[in-house]
Amino acid sequence: IRFYADSAVLTEVGELLADGLVHGVTTNPTILERAERGVRDIPALYARWEGEGAEEIFFQAWGESKTEMLRNAHSILTLGSRAVVKVPATRIGFAAASTLVAEGASVLVTAVYSQAQALAAASMGVRYVAPYLGRLKDAGRDGVAEIAAMQQLIAGTGTEVLAASLRTPADIIDLAAAGVSYFTAAPAVILAALQSDVSDRSAEEFEAAVRRGL
Ligand code: E4P
Repeated sequence: IRFYADSAVLTEVGELLADGLVHGVTTNPTILERAERGVRDIPALYARWEGEGAEEIFFQAWGESKTEMLRNAHSILTLGSRAVVKVPATRIGFAAASTLVAEGASVLVTAVYSQAQALAAASMGVRYVAPYLGRLKDAGRDGVAEIAAMQQLIAGTGTEVLAASLRTPADIIDLAAAGVSYFTAAPAVILAALQSDVSDRSAEEFEAAVRRGL
């Protein structure tokens, strides 16, 4: 099981990495923008998160042609061995993914919204497919059932489902119960998954007992 921070906010990502609560960091151009950054910041972000111990660092390639997307993917991959390149599940993205896998790159196909897309990505040998649970639900679809079906379809192919757009700890549990092992979520969702009022109360009681026994 692996959790990833879906954020480019330096403080919150840094804290999760420092405390060993996530294995890496996932981003896309929207996440960079929300953190008031852009693709020009990718090299500095990579260096920072590598230094903070991220095992996998995901950046998304961009471009309106396969050539442009590949050029940007290559610039991401040259950052280092922890870089995973994301490409969108579009005609251009799939073409770029196929080339990148043939070159030996670790690739994630993102914004996956159908089982057929997941299967196509697996046929190319990409490392991960990222379906968006929250957005599937927003569209009125049974996201858990659809992602569970993707997981079942590609199990054993070497391509893994890395679930995204997870908004509550229950989202993570629903997909884990369906066999999904890789999860990316906003730091607040990761922290919520660790927290329980009952655990906190128990911990307070333990501390109080320590103080009484001093
Ligand atoms: C991942 O790449 C997506 O940006 C993210 O998980 C989407 O989450 P949202 O639908 O909650 O914005």
